Amino acid sequence: MKQDMIVILDLGSHENTVVARAIRALGVYSEIYPHDITANELKALPNVKGIIINGGPNNVIDGVAIDVLPEIYDAGFPVMAAGHDKALCEVKLAQFANDEDAIKDAVKGFVFDTCKAEANWNMKNFVADQIELVRRQVGDKKVLLALSGGVDSSVVAALLLKAIGDNLVCVHVNHGLMRKGESENVIEVFKNQLNANLVYVDATDRFLGLLEGVADPEQKRKIIGGEFIRVFEEEARKLAGGIDFLGQGTIYPDIVESGTKTAKMVKSHHNVGGLPEDLQFELVEPLKQLFKDEVRACGVELGLPYEMVYRQPFPGPGLGVRCLGAITRDRLEALRESDAILREEFANAGLDKKVWQYFTVVPDFKSVGVKDNARSYDWPVIIRAVNTVDAMTATIEQIEWPILLKITDRILKEVPGINRVCYDMSPKPSATIEWE
Ligand code: XMP
Repeated sequence: MKQDMIVILDLGSHENTVVARAIRALGVYSEIYPHDITANELKALPNVKGIIINGGPNNVIDGVAIDVLPEIYDAGFPVMAAGHDKALCEVKLAQFANDEDAIKDAVKGFVFDTCKAEANWNMKNFVADQIELVRRQVGDKKVLLALSGGVDSSVVAALLLKAIGDNLVCVHVNHGLMRKGESENVIEVFKNQLNANLVYVDATDRFLGLLEGVADPEQKRKIIGGEFIRVFEEEARKLAGGIDFLGQGTIYPDIVESGTKTAKMVKSHHNVGGLPEDLQFELVEPLKQLFKDEVRACGVELGLPYEMVYRQPFPGPGLGVRCLGAITRDRLEALRESDAILREEFANAGLDKKVWQYFTVVPDFKSVGVKDNARSYDWPVIIRAVNTVDAMTATIEQIEWPILLKITDRILKEVPGINRVCYDMSPKPSATIEWE
């Protein structure tokens, strides 16, 4: 790694990620490490220019006061402390405000004047470094990657492709619950345009067969998740022998959120997602240092299409949690078509760049309507559009009437089996973002 680094030592502050982001926004790379890192471990990290100890009244975990090791102050790095009353370091701050711009102002002098860090953190350098690191890790062996078409797996695929070319084997499993055009898009971009080694598995009948008659949301999720692993495992076995590595779209929040020193290991196990133990892969996780917005910037640097890099979040179980109750092919089709209309009209109105997540839902009940002067008895479509920062809470987007009316009109005209359109007004809480 060529980049200079500011290390943040974690004393349990919730602000750590904001501090790391603020420093990276200044163009200097920053990583968070556990409070009990030793001076030797610290010295072994590449290009450390300074340390920020970030604590506060919450320097207590499970009733035990925690602190950095005294040897850290003698390790030879400039130290800044925020909300921490150690008298040993040169620079002290009362406490950070949980605000990226305020933190940038607070740390700028320390980062550049005291630590003499160079602003050399950018995506071009990051991509070049990771390509080199992946080549060193993998050599001429093969890497298997589950390519869903989501932002993280797409960016990993593009990066690994640059690093190892044909030695990357991507597997795209279509569970039949993808949005309109999504699998086709993955094939078009990765197979046709980027010439990736892509195995496409259409497992639609398999998934829909297993889901037939299953109405319970949790059971639906379990079936989809479990079957996904079985299909991927089957493909892995076919290819096994020649494959030693598994690519993963793990990103920085996945690692930081799991907290402790053991976080990396715990998350790796979790991410492998229940693959059987006799399929033993070493993990390749080139995005594990990036925040979500940096993953997108990395995708842009790698030349991926805008729509792929800036697409809205899409749940693993896909349309399965939006086709409520027991999934039927006719309602699934109505869901896919209405969702495509919604996305098209949101893009026309510029809302795709403004609204965090938007989709349609088709419930499993019908209502009476009138069509072509005759009684109809059809499904409703529910529109949902929400804004959130972290998906823990959400507010609804207040869409202008003319846009909603246009979407309603198109859905009623173009989607068979639908006679009503409703708008979901519920924030999270009390609702969740998805309906199941
Ligand atoms: P909820 O419905 O819990 O959703 O408010 C919060 C966010 O998480 C997404 N979501 C999922 N993402 N696998 C995923 O990768 C899942 O099983 C899953 N369930 C919900 C949801 O779309 C929203 O963005």
